[in-house]
Amino acid sequence: MNILEKVNKAKEYIKSIDNSKIDLAIILGSGLGDIVKDIENPVIIKYADIPEFPVSTVAGHAGELIIGDLMGKRIMAFNGRFHYYEGYAMELVTFPVRVVKSLGVDKIIVTNAAGGMNPDFEPGDLMIITDHINMIGNNPLIGPNYEEFGPRFPDMSNAYNKELRLLANEAAKDLGIKIQNGVYVPVSGPNYETPAELRMLRILGGDAVGMSTVPEVIVANHMSMKVLGISCITDMALADNLEPLDHEKVVETANKAMKKFVTLVKEIINRI
Ligand code: HPA
Repeated sequence: MNILEKVNKAKEYIKSIDNSKIDLAIILGSGLGDIVKDIENPVIIKYADIPEFPVSTVAGHAGELIIGDLMGKRIMAFNGRFHYYEGYAMELVTFPVRVVKSLGVDKIIVTNAAGGMNPDFEPGDLMIITDHINMIGNNPLIGPNYEEFGPRFPDMSNAYNKELRLLANEAAKDLGIKIQNGVYVPVSGPNYETPAELRMLRILGGDAVGMSTVPEVIVANHMSMKVLGISCITDMALADNLEPLDHEKVVETANKAMKKFVTLVKEIINRI
């Protein structure tokens, strides 16, 4: 079965359970899943039940798709994502995004936990992603191109949609939520970075470092979707002052920032 057929199979399954018109999709990063609690009339679909769908293996990632109403919009929320470091092929890491677009949804919010490389940041800050530098060492579009999805050489000049970024910044301002803007650099992981690696990534122009999101963003752009990216800065990834880090700390800080994150994302959804 080729990717077009796999996407179609997953799409048909989801439509057989909920055939409503969906306004936007959101992918929830580590420790940022609480927003699903506010979704009204939720239809919960386990990843494991969706044909061709991978199943997430990381603690803090639930592995459920929730379709329902939030702030007057019909949304589909992916609680749990797939990372390259889990060993999935890029095609699987980005499979949910292909399915989203096949359902006719053209806006997606992608979120993650990230280390702050910009010294002006603080743990718990939220950062609107302005741009990225792909340092994963792979690309989900390598291989045969399916023109049904998009062009061989996709444009990335507005990868993080400018209007959505403006809207998100305004929403944060009106809510009195401190917001940062910056460049997200994904690496493959799964180890956290060495000080020398962080020094390099900062020199290259990164403000935050993580292990996700960019494959999905590349695929979303391939399919001409509008993307908004939000990072929760969970730790300071400073080359010259690097403290030991583990996943529990990342999830703990993300959880502490969750209320603010949920408030902001709900207001963004309200305004979209
Ligand atoms: N580095 C990479 N990924 C991360 C980090 C980090 O410091 N924090 C959360 N995800």
